[in-house]
Amino acid sequence: MAKQKQVPGLALRLAAAERLQAVLKGASFSPLVASEVADARDRGLANKLITTALRHHGHLTLMLDHLLERGMPKKSGSFEAVLRLSLAQILYLPELGDHSALFLAGEAVKRDKSAQHLAKLMNAVLRRAQTEAETLRQAPPELLFAPSLVKSWTAAYGAEAIPAFARALLEGAPLDLTLKADYPALIELLGGRKLLADTIRVEQRDKPVDQLPGFAEGRFWVQDVAAAIPARLFQLPAGSRVLDIGAAPGGKTAQLIKAGYQVTALDRDSSRVERLRSNLHRLGYIADLVTADALDYTPSVPFDGVLLDAPCSATGTFRRHPEVVWHRDAKDIAGRVKLQRSLIERAISCLNPGGVLIYCVCSLEPDEGEMQAKWAVEQGLEPIAMSAAELDGWAVPITETGYIRTHPGQIVPGENGGTLDGFFVARFRRR
Ligand SMILES: C[S@@+](CC[C@H](N)C(=O)[O-])C[C@H]1O[C@@H](n2cnc3c(N)ncnc32)[C@H](O)[C@@H]1O
Repeated sequence: MAKQKQVPGLALRLAAAERLQAVLKGASFSPLVASEVADARDRGLANKLITTALRHHGHLTLMLDHLLERGMPKKSGSFEAVLRLSLAQILYLPELGDHSALFLAGEAVKRDKSAQHLAKLMNAVLRRAQTEAETLRQAPPELLFAPSLVKSWTAAYGAEAIPAFARALLEGAPLDLTLKADYPALIELLGGRKLLADTIRVEQRDKPVDQLPGFAEGRFWVQDVAAAIPARLFQLPAGSRVLDIGAAPGGKTAQLIKAGYQVTALDRDSSRVERLRSNLHRLGYIADLVTADALDYTPSVPFDGVLLDAPCSATGTFRRHPEVVWHRDAKDIAGRVKLQRSLIERAISCLNPGGVLIYCVCSLEPDEGEMQAKWAVEQGLEPIAMSAAELDGWAVPITETGYIRTHPGQIVPGENGGTLDGFFVARFRRR
């Protein structure tokens, strides 16, 4: 460990390689935090290397096939992760300089017993990438996504959606905040721009969210502009009782409380419920919190409204979670479709006759969205069409059947606009 400290920049690369390696094995990506890399600049750089490698994952895979004549060496520890990070630096972060990529890649693999015999190969591959950089950068956009997703998205959104999604993937997501009230001075201080309703967008920031002005005072919470749409659609009288299923970490719960409803927030994951509790506490909001599997939950008194933010493939969040476009396959999506249907049935049983169900998923897959809405109607639910007026006049996401479909190829209106997460939202009445 003492040796590693002597090489500037090495510790952050080892941390980045470890995190990327976990994601390559199937873990969800979460950025490195202060307890993992203490120095804020190092941490920022490590996270930038990982996200760049993940956003360009499809193209890097293509390059590895081309550059490694004998394929990826088996049982080679951190070799692949270090190689991907270093290629990402050379090809997409030229401002960091090639020298550190080559030097630190060598130092990193030398410290890994399973990979140290591959130091020469690492160097040779990176040098070849340097000379072929221009050609390697020219890969087509559809290779940035798993082929099964390209197929389903082309069918659902048209071939032109794929290059638009690719641009959104590579750009990443800005920070969207939902405001507890209108705070013009705070919006100015944050450098925020108003988007739909009470959402503002912060493009540039030099601090983590919890150090931004207004955070400690509970004046906002983090929520993509698309994720903020569903909870606004109930149109129930203030004081109505609303059940929020799959509530944690609580972005939508907070909106429901802000709208004046009496909220019961339910989630089966106890650690996520604790996050929900602490988020509501910071905001000064109160809800009944229930830790339970929704499939086993029966309320003593039925609700006027149920929000079902169903567990899903989350493919609509690829700007923030670039790994989802490689971690999902048809089998995995089929399993989620089944669970979503059981949850819809349970949600209906928690409603008063005449009560309103909002179903939403942060997925781009029609099987989890449009097809689920069709199935819900077959179960007897009455759809309540949405109108552009409910989106400040923005008509683009309203579907022919009156549901809402957003995707990262759309540009949300507002000062300077920008992309948004993919969401499907449907609203129904229980007969
Ligand atoms: C998309 S996330 C919810 C995001 C949240 N609604 C928000 O706006 O902050 C889905 C949530 O559903 C929860 N969940 C998954 N299956 C569940 C089940 N059977 N019962 C209750 N909660 C469940 C997960 O723990 C997860 O917190």
